[in-house]
Amino acid sequence: MDNITKILNDFGESVVRVEGDIPVDLPARDGDRFLFISHDQGFLTHGLHKYPAKFFPELPRWLIKRYSQENDQVLDPFADSGTTNVEALLSRRNSVGIDVDPFSRFISSVKVTPLVEKELRSAQKTLLEAILNYRPSLIAESDLPDFPYRDNWFNKEILLELTYLKKQIQSLDTNDAVKNFFKVCFSSILRSVSNADDNCTRTVIRKKLNKLVRPSDALNRFAKALHTKVPKMIAFSQEYPSGITVDFPDDMDARNIKYEANYFDLAVTSPPYVNAVDYPRTHQLEMYWLGFAQNSLTALKKRNVGTESVSASHYKTCHEIGVPEADKVIANIFEIDPRRAFIAYKYLEDMWKNLIEVHKVLREGGRYVIVVGNNRIRGHLFENWKYLMPIAEEVGFEVETYFGSEIIKHYVKMPRKERIHTDWIIVLKK
Ligand SMILES: C[S@@+](CC[C@H](N)C(=O)[O-])C[C@H]1O[C@@H](n2cnc3c(N)ncnc32)[C@H](O)[C@@H]1O
Repeated sequence: MDNITKILNDFGESVVRVEGDIPVDLPARDGDRFLFISHDQGFLTHGLHKYPAKFFPELPRWLIKRYSQENDQVLDPFADSGTTNVEALLSRRNSVGIDVDPFSRFISSVKVTPLVEKELRSAQKTLLEAILNYRPSLIAESDLPDFPYRDNWFNKEILLELTYLKKQIQSLDTNDAVKNFFKVCFSSILRSVSNADDNCTRTVIRKKLNKLVRPSDALNRFAKALHTKVPKMIAFSQEYPSGITVDFPDDMDARNIKYEANYFDLAVTSPPYVNAVDYPRTHQLEMYWLGFAQNSLTALKKRNVGTESVSASHYKTCHEIGVPEADKVIANIFEIDPRRAFIAYKYLEDMWKNLIEVHKVLREGGRYVIVVGNNRIRGHLFENWKYLMPIAEEVGFEVETYFGSEIIKHYVKMPRKERIHTDWIIVLKK
């Protein structure tokens, strides 16, 4: 296989480098290390919208083909931007994606919904003509959306342009599926025309950055987005396999999966890490413009596994999860930061609930594959993957194997010492 070579990583460890598609029967033994070079980040609908901590498509594609058959049922309990579900669909597997975040469910559902080329092209034409006819006077003050710090996040000219574009999308003479697609295109340019730092996960304005957003930038970037994304949606729609289902239920949580026992043949996911990414805050501007949030995001943040929204009453004492290695690190963190120690404890408690739920809905012999990395919390290395394996065994899973995926590219820039350089892939068998 000429796309596979053996190399050494920066730490002198032997790594198997795989370029592009991963062979289904690639040998993977306990502790092996791989460097997967992705070629498909923008393949079909995968690149429709940026998202932190996204899977690279080849990984769920490989795991789905390795551990399931066509027409099987696949679950991603932390579905995020739907990468697993797009790959399940393209591999002719039915799937379900669960995510507490309405914005994630919206993006994911658009990425798996085929559209008619003629309707797409005609709507694109209408929108591009509307851009040419834009005048600020066409937008009344009352049309402007209302959300916290609006005029800090967006310059006045850009606010008027975005409001105009959103109105044009909503007044398109077409069906909701097509409108939703253009709303995703609209959402995909918001960060770049806001005053927020483009390269930071969290939505923050950095004065020293001096980010320059000029009048017409919103109109131009939206037109450019249409030129790149419409052909991707058309190509996806042509690949769309009929007779395969994809669902994103809006009343579920990774800790409360309302499907019958033994319903799924495989589960594949990359859960949040402890205090790594604050997803609601990452796409707060997109949620405001698309109407998924008005003011506070606290309620959604509290529902997130790995949340930092915890109350002081919870961390008066140090909690034990019952995994000695983890409890030792949690106790060390508690010495200097009781709050962060509780956040780490609660993360494992929540993942324990998730493992119980997935074990319930997975058929006998089915696999649950979890892709998760390490964290550094107040200087202490918190090895999530190592702690999740004994918990999974406690729940009733067998740890079939585990291997590492070296991380090369981040969508987000993180302070050097906190960079996590390996994602661990844990294969659990019921
Ligand atoms: C690392 S991301 C998953 C990335 C995904 N594999 C992808 O490629 O797009 C984790 C996701 O878990 C979601 N999440 C957090 N807490 C959750 C919960 N309790 N139930 C379901 N989803 C949750 C977050 O909203 C986020 O979208």
